[in-house]
Amino acid sequence: MSALRVLSVAAEVYPLVKTGGLADVAGALPAALAAEDVRVVTLMPGYPATMKALERPTVAKRYAELFGGPARIVAGRAAGLELLALDAPHLFERHGNPYLGPDGRDWPDNAFRFAALSRAAADVARDGAGDFSPDVVHAHDWQAALAPAYLRYDGGPRPATVLTIHNLAFQGQFPADWLARLGLPPHAFALDGVEYYGTIGFLKAGLQMADRITTVSPSYAAEIMTPQGGMGLDGLLATRAADVVGILNGIDTAVWNPAGDPALTQAYSATRLAQRDKNRVALQRRLGLAEDPQAPLFGLVSRLTTQKGVDLIVEAMPTLLSLGGQLAALGTGDRALEGAMERAALAHPGRVGVLIGYDEELAHLVQGGADFLLVPSRFEPCGLTQLCALRYGAPPLVARVGGLADTVIDANEAAIEAGAATGIVFSPVDAQSYAAALRRAAALHRDPATFKRLRLNGMRADVSWRRPAGAYARLYRDLVATRTAR
Ligand code: ADP
Ligand code: GLC
Repeated sequence: MSALRVLSVAAEVYPLVKTGGLADVAGALPAALAAEDVRVVTLMPGYPATMKALERPTVAKRYAELFGGPARIVAGRAAGLELLALDAPHLFERHGNPYLGPDGRDWPDNAFRFAALSRAAADVARDGAGDFSPDVVHAHDWQAALAPAYLRYDGGPRPATVLTIHNLAFQGQFPADWLARLGLPPHAFALDGVEYYGTIGFLKAGLQMADRITTVSPSYAAEIMTPQGGMGLDGLLATRAADVVGILNGIDTAVWNPAGDPALTQAYSATRLAQRDKNRVALQRRLGLAEDPQAPLFGLVSRLTTQKGVDLIVEAMPTLLSLGGQLAALGTGDRALEGAMERAALAHPGRVGVLIGYDEELAHLVQGGADFLLVPSRFEPCGLTQLCALRYGAPPLVARVGGLADTVIDANEAAIEAGAATGIVFSPVDAQSYAAALRRAAALHRDPATFKRLRLNGMRADVSWRRPAGAYARLYRDLVATRTAR
């Protein structure tokens, strides 16, 4: 069997540019797919960090004009990936967050910026780049979702297309009068085209036109077809149900490896779990917490948003404190939630430690030092931090939604007895049941033998990309085979 060729298209790719889990996935999946005999070339915007990291760059394609300025597609390698960077300085030569300007708002030309990414993807799909021409175009999220639309309206033969939804809350909606400026024909503004409640919907277009749709957990795949979880797209998704599949994410087990993690004070593993306590102390020191060996230490590594249920953590802070607990929190996001967390830290010195910011190293120390990781999300397509927590022996305390429900096994008595439990799962997602989950966590923490088994069960779980990569490889191959057979 010859290697299958996949063009992966994403707006962020770890370790080059990252705001969340999308980058982790786009950065780690290619290497896992290589083991499945799939060659992945990744197309991403040529942000300053991308252009700087490119090794042995060669120009694969030139545009005299692409949405307002000249552009090139530059091929090279970076961070172990085969990369194509869309070098369009008028769109991407901007430092900091890939989506937001210095005022914290979306860049006003985001429609152009990500239409350009999709346009470039469609061009590489059809014309290739260097020695590479893809069998499959795999677009991630709304920023790449116009790629199947450009391929359709260009006409002619095209590779197969897959669209992955990482978060249905971000849909890429723009006013209808952008249609011509985005290079889309008038007839594209239709129900079976890019039209979405009177606007242009990038994600909607991709969901309409991609050959297959994936999302990042089986439970989220079911949730998004319901009015409660569909965010306006449930009707469309339901009509495409036969083409929708949920494939769980993995994590990069080389980046997330407690036995060799440079961000930790002390390496440890399942057989040397006692060593882990040194990281606990290091975390307490780092966040100004009392060096209390008894307190159940709850960790948080998260965007601070209502999606992530951070308001529940604030609301139930009295419960956490009444249990003698400590909180070590790292995150950025909504100003109001950042403020609420900072006020909690000021009100409870030594008990609540908060760092508002983005800090990869501290994220690792929280995972390697906390007793439990809090993930009380209202919805969660997959979630990666609970997978890291399993591997790092910090049993996750999670809401029973989306990928959290699919990856954490609740410590009820039967599951503990069977040696299967890996964390604490609560529902419904409200402050009362979250508080009840905190009480269960504290009780488990007071029972060292059971708590240790819970930890070890999680550390043994396979959270790597091995299985998911196999599932993606099968999906690509099936899709290519069905199209050839047609
Ligand atoms: P989402 O993509 O919805 O934010 P995920 O759980 O899929 O949620 O991925 C979040 C990723 O971002 C994880 O790798 C997590 O460690 C990381 N992360 C989130 N907030 C921070 C932060 N403040 N500092 C460092 N890493 C963070
Ligand atoms: C999104 C989701 C998160 C998921 C990540 C990677 O950001 O919010 O649940 O893990 O994408 O797929």
